[in-house]
Amino acid sequence: MKILMVCLGNICRSPLAHGIMEFMVKENGLDWEIDSAGTGDWHVGHAPDKRSVQVAKDRGIDISGQRAQLFDPAFFSSYDRILVMDRQNYKDVVSMAASQEEKDKVTLFLDNDIVPDPYYDSNMFIPVFELIESRCKQLIKDWA
Ligand code: 4NP
Repeated sequence: MKILMVCLGNICRSPLAHGIMEFMVKENGLDWEIDSAGTGDWHVGHAPDKRSVQVAKDRGIDISGQRAQLFDPAFFSSYDRILVMDRQNYKDVVSMAASQEEKDKVTLFLDNDIVPDPYYDSNMFIPVFELIESRCKQLIKDWA
């Protein structure tokens, strides 16, 4: 299974979802491929935000090698599931879908809730990490 994690900048939330899920996928011996992208292009080519790198590093996960990329409509055919962090990401990604089948690949990462954007509030990085970690565990239980 190929899963794409999407947020706005691809430097705070989706790199955490990408790194945490990739870590758990390895731990569980799954053959899933994980990547991430953003709907905005400001940070394309940049490493994740230092605060995301640190919160992950403190918990044994290295996301420093990731580089931000812009969501490309070609991703609809290359990924099985596209998991978005908030409702604006959902609108932005779905607006690029060319068919109902492509739209159906897109869901909120938390199903019925959003992952808050920690970019403007450094205190949010630990709770956001924990929220993403617990959802990744659940997704592995549900889909593995
Ligand atoms: P992310 O957070 O979508 O979780 O990567 C953001 C990063 C950068 C910006 C906004 C949100 N920005 O406006 O540059």
